[in-house]
Amino acid sequence: MNSFTFYNPTQLVFGKDSIEKLPQMIAQFTQGKKIMLTYGGGSIKKSGLYDRIMTLLSDFEVTEFGGIEPNPRLSTVTKAVEVVKEKGIDFILAVGGGSVIDGTKLISAASKLDNDPWDIVTRKVTPEEGVPFGTILTISATGSEMNSGSVITNWETNEKLGWGSPLVFPKFSLLNPEILYTLPKNQTVNGIVDSMSHLLEQYFNEADNSAIGDAMIAGVMKEIMKAGEVALKEPENYEARETLMLGATVALNGFMRMGYNGDWATHNIEHAVSAVHDIAHGAGLAILFPAWMTYVSDKSPERFAKFAEDVFDVDSSLSQQEKVDAGINGIRDYWTSIGAPAHLSDFEITEDDFETFADKTLFNGPFGNFYQLDKEAVMAIYQLAK
Ligand code: NZQ
Ligand code: ZN
Repeated sequence: MNSFTFYNPTQLVFGKDSIEKLPQMIAQFTQGKKIMLTYGGGSIKKSGLYDRIMTLLSDFEVTEFGGIEPNPRLSTVTKAVEVVKEKGIDFILAVGGGSVIDGTKLISAASKLDNDPWDIVTRKVTPEEGVPFGTILTISATGSEMNSGSVITNWETNEKLGWGSPLVFPKFSLLNPEILYTLPKNQTVNGIVDSMSHLLEQYFNEADNSAIGDAMIAGVMKEIMKAGEVALKEPENYEARETLMLGATVALNGFMRMGYNGDWATHNIEHAVSAVHDIAHGAGLAILFPAWMTYVSDKSPERFAKFAEDVFDVDSSLSQQEKVDAGINGIRDYWTSIGAPAHLSDFEITEDDFETFADKTLFNGPFGNFYQLDKEAVMAIYQLAK
């Protein structure tokens, strides 16, 4: 393994009573009364969550900033930054999924600088402080509620880029699995695919020894797969939602990557697609991960065979190639069985775009820590996914 320091300061407050702890949680981080409430397209109003939160915030002066899009946009973040500066906001509460939380991370950091927020994303400037913020999570998927990463889309340049800073760990995240009951089926599916993809990215890593990581990843992946099937049949099954919610959080809060980085090529390959076509991140991963696995498996068949043993408990008497195939098919078939898309053509994305996507993925040169991809390889993966 590589040497590492594990750091994660986010207070994770989990359970049916978590949201009611909001006032005391905020009080740990500010004596101020000016709160900005950030949210997305309005699901929190339909579900009644908004009213619950406003009651809990009755002692505060609340400024609302709704309309943060799925695949959050730079233009929206920039408007929110102006409001934070103008009102002298003391604390930001993000209520939503990865998009609202990622947008809020950039609002937090950019509100303490005079630069364009995009300068932070492109690393022209390094933030030195941020407006403190906490989250109430409404969809289990990205792990953004307990990590320091953020992904922002610039529609002027069709770039979707990730950035991160230890300053933008949420101060706290309140997770009540009941809040997931109102998720539309396709969003539950996207969340299952995304959290499993985070585990896959880290399973296929650059370390010589990742025995502890392998065991944690395989265990969490199996439980997410079981709970996913239950939650899709019974959207109000509390235990299944509980497992999906905690599973998605631990999949990307640093626990699973102690001693290595993981591959992360497929995330780059997916972001290039959703930067141009605005498809859901989980949907893109469901299409592209099996294609990446197919392309890379013959470069390291031992690792793919171990994956099938760890996650799908394949018969040890199978040949190495049979195990490799069982692992890849196991992932593809599971995602298809829960209703995830399998081809870029499902979104009317054609070969005409592949070169544009590939050039975007290569903005920093060849990439992928488990197996390095060049342009030819990336083009081949898009071909496998068409
Ligand atoms: O906007 P509203 O109306 O709230 O509706 C949302 C949105 O349309 C809806 N939704 C969320 N909770 C709901 C609900 N509808 C009903 N009931 C609820 N309880 O779901 C839709 C999708 O929400 P979004 O926040 O976009 O989903 P997700 O959490 O999957 O976030 C995706 C974004 O995160 C980035 C992705 O690239 C994408 O931009 N990622 C962030 C990461 C990170 N920060 O660590 C890592 C990931 O790999 C990923 O790249
Ligand atoms: Zn992801």
